[in-house]
Amino acid sequence: MAETKNADEIFKEFKEHSIAEFFKKNRQMLGYSGKVRSLVTVVHEYVTNSLDASEEAGILPDIGVIVTNVGEEKYKVVEYDNGPGIPKNHIGRALATMLAGTKFHRYMQQRGQQGIGAAGCTLFAQITTGKPIFAKSSTGAGKGYSCNIAVDTVHNKPIITNMVEISEDFKGLRVEGEFADVKYENGEHGIYEYLRRTVLSNPHARIKFIDPEGKEYVFERAIEKQPERPEPVKPHPLGIFVNDLLDFAKASDSRKLSSFLVDAFARVTSNKVNELREIAKGVDFDKDPRALTWPEAEELIKAIKAVKWIAPDATQIKAIGSEQIRIALKNILDPEFMHVVERKPKVFRGGIPFIVEAAVAFGGSAGRKTDKGYEGNILRFANRVPLLFDNSSCAITAATRGVDWKRYNIDIENQPVSVFVNVSSVYIPYSGVGKEAIAQEDEIIDEIKLAVMDAARGVQHYVSGKQKIAGETSRYKMIMRYTKQLAKDLSNITGADQKNVERDIEKLVAKHYPKATGADEDDAASDEGKVGKEADEKKQRSLEDGSEEDD
Ligand SMILES: Nc1ncnc2c1ncn2[C@@H]1O[C@H](COP(=O)(O)OP(=O)(O)OP(=O)(O)O)[C@@H](O)[C@H]1O
Ligand SMILES: [Mg+2]
Repeated sequence: MAETKNADEIFKEFKEHSIAEFFKKNRQMLGYSGKVRSLVTVVHEYVTNSLDASEEAGILPDIGVIVTNVGEEKYKVVEYDNGPGIPKNHIGRALATMLAGTKFHRYMQQRGQQGIGAAGCTLFAQITTGKPIFAKSSTGAGKGYSCNIAVDTVHNKPIITNMVEISEDFKGLRVEGEFADVKYENGEHGIYEYLRRTVLSNPHARIKFIDPEGKEYVFERAIEKQPERPEPVKPHPLGIFVNDLLDFAKASDSRKLSSFLVDAFARVTSNKVNELREIAKGVDFDKDPRALTWPEAEELIKAIKAVKWIAPDATQIKAIGSEQIRIALKNILDPEFMHVVERKPKVFRGGIPFIVEAAVAFGGSAGRKTDKGYEGNILRFANRVPLLFDNSSCAITAATRGVDWKRYNIDIENQPVSVFVNVSSVYIPYSGVGKEAIAQEDEIIDEIKLAVMDAARGVQHYVSGKQKIAGETSRYKMIMRYTKQLAKDLSNITGADQKNVERDIEKLVAKHYPKATGADEDDAASDEGKVGKEADEKKQRSLEDGSEEDD
């Protein structure tokens, strides 16, 4: 019989684990599942950090990524930027402490949200190769240093070794790490594609990439202008849950609950607090906010839902902008035709504003070339970060699949079409810690669908024109196959010269199908293409003066 244990013995093994210890055991939650995906995740974490840091510092990012094969399923990743760098006394917290970043309690539209990404990479290197990360950084002249860095997982603390000061004159951060149990792959889910999509949504960035074969790719900056920098905002009361309210209250330094509410949240005035007082009778608004209890917070949230609020301010949400998207798409996909849509801010969960931008691009390098021809693809982005994985659970996929493409004469399965969608918000509801898919919130799905339909409508005429040409061309070719025989027969019957008859028939057919022969310069496609482009420009102008109609 198996040995039995009493409660004391069982609970002897009970101990608290650090968050680093937790992620060491659950690395898939950080995106480290699957060999190809794991390697992309490393690049993704470092590149998004570089973009965030340079954006905050107002620097046009110059980023480099070098991937080299250093053994069986083992790769070295080097990533560097020209950003602000990390001060020496913060490097440990930045690259090797989970949840230590500044952003966790800050409501601001940035790519990074949790303060986990960089330490996650360090942890992943450590658990797959036993090696620390090498970091080199400088925040300006004379402030350079390099060191090795690892995570003490038991205590979620950094272990820094070999700290050396360097006199080299540079600014930015360079990280180097070796990762095993990973694979490099080209294609839809590879690093090259990830970086290509990154410049698509960040046309202000220049990215150089050297792949494991030593091939060098440079994605040049398409725009020399720094995007508008978002500022931290206060959360709207309708966008928070009970536990968020408690977290904010615990971190507060206000003396009273009432002043905490006014200070911590947007749109809360003392008048509103009085309204809340009338409803949440069981809550003492004069108490220390740090002493707020769960039942009180629950009652407050209920009261918040019962009060009328001014909608949240969306001015701190910075979308990419339709002109920038147009330039980026032209630069990377060079489509024959495209239509870009920037929607007005909307709100989900009652209090979290977000903006959807969408584009449909047709032809050029849009879509994906396959053995059988072409197929359409969806380019998903959240706050300008490309999402390559967890496709099926993403709100963007759900919304795009929900569009009735036939209505727009687009065959999304068999045509060179790319659907571009970027969702911007101070808070993106990701469906997992790996941040690869946007949760399927109804309000977000509906809004994406409207944006995509709008963009599809914009290319509809052009695509129909193309289809008309394709149809005419095939009919023209079929008829032309019989002209020789027909001319011969007619010449036999009438005695007319066969060559002349053939020429006359050809002329007649060509007149009937001008689009197929290209005789008609102003054919449907280019005509409608022009109309589409003009409409596009007109729309752009209306967008700029904010008169875009909302459907
Ligand atoms: N290239 C960089 N240049 C300057 N600072 C950086 C750089 N990379 C990271 N940091 C700093 O380190 C912090 C931690 O980065 P980390 O990736 O762990 O978290 P995050 O980006 O805030 O959130 P997320 O977990 O969502 O990525 C960042 O918030 C930033 O302050
Ligand atoms: Mg990050």
